[in-house]
Amino acid sequence: MTEHVLIEKANGVLTLTLNRPDKKNALSNEMYGALGDAIDGAADDPEVRCILIQANGDMFTSGNDLASFQAVNSGEAAQGDRRGGSALIQALGRAKTPVVAAVNGRAVGVGTTMLLHCDLVFLAEDALLTTPFVNLALVPEAASSITLPARIGHARAFSMFVLGEAVDARKAEAWGIANAVVPVGELRARARAAAEAVAAKPPSAVAITKALMRESERYLARMQEEGAHFGAQLKTAEAAEAFAAFREKRAPDFSKVS
Ligand code: COA
Repeated sequence: MTEHVLIEKANGVLTLTLNRPDKKNALSNEMYGALGDAIDGAADDPEVRCILIQANGDMFTSGNDLASFQAVNSGEAAQGDRRGGSALIQALGRAKTPVVAAVNGRAVGVGTTMLLHCDLVFLAEDALLTTPFVNLALVPEAASSITLPARIGHARAFSMFVLGEAVDARKAEAWGIANAVVPVGELRARARAAAEAVAAKPPSAVAITKALMRESERYLARMQEEGAHFGAQLKTAEAAEAFAAFREKRAPDFSKVS
């Protein structure tokens, strides 16, 4: 249980609201655990026919909590001590329940890669998607090394991953990452209406359709492969420099790392 994820159930929709606005909804290990458990739990709850993910505050999420990355880098936290992001991304990768996302403002890192596991995505006009893994000396996760190029093509995906290209709402819609771009004030209602519409459909037909469209086993295997590289990169000197630069509010300098 964490106050940073609000969980409600109504009209067949399980709503998960990211609620750590003072830290721009940076995802802590507790938040990943709460989200993952809620998504896994939905599979066995006949009252839940659809999951809706949304966020309080001025952005969807600033991605993984950089303090916990830093703790692994410095040796304060052993990587094996925590489920970390895998609690959320694996639950999404194997989810049988459809997932709808309502994204306002920035969606950084896993904030964007999780959208590739969502079945309907609504973006507010101010949405901005970034996957700055390489800027942090890290590598793609959440099976995004296959799901992002599959969705938008290799060249665009490489630019997002390696150059840190930021993709605004209109571009994300045009590239097939999202269903629609809506005014900020209409975002929640629009996404909720879609989630309730999904929830009203025949549940087995919906679940089979989703399963046929997804390649869960392949995603979970790729997440493991990515995770091994991600874990190794977290401990490198180049990652230490990237995290120090964020903490010290300066640009990183990778010219001296070998
Ligand atoms: N992890 C931990 N803390 C974070 C965070 C993150 N990912 N993102 C933001 N915060 C914290 C800031 O340290 C700051 O804390 P403070 O008030 O105690 O100083 C607070 O949230 C507000 O952030 P701030 O940077 O002032 O907000 P902003 O609106 O100017 O910028 C971002 C927002 C998202 C552009 C910026 O915070 C950012 O780049 N964050 C890191 C994103 C990232 O690299 N995530 C990992 C991806 S794998």
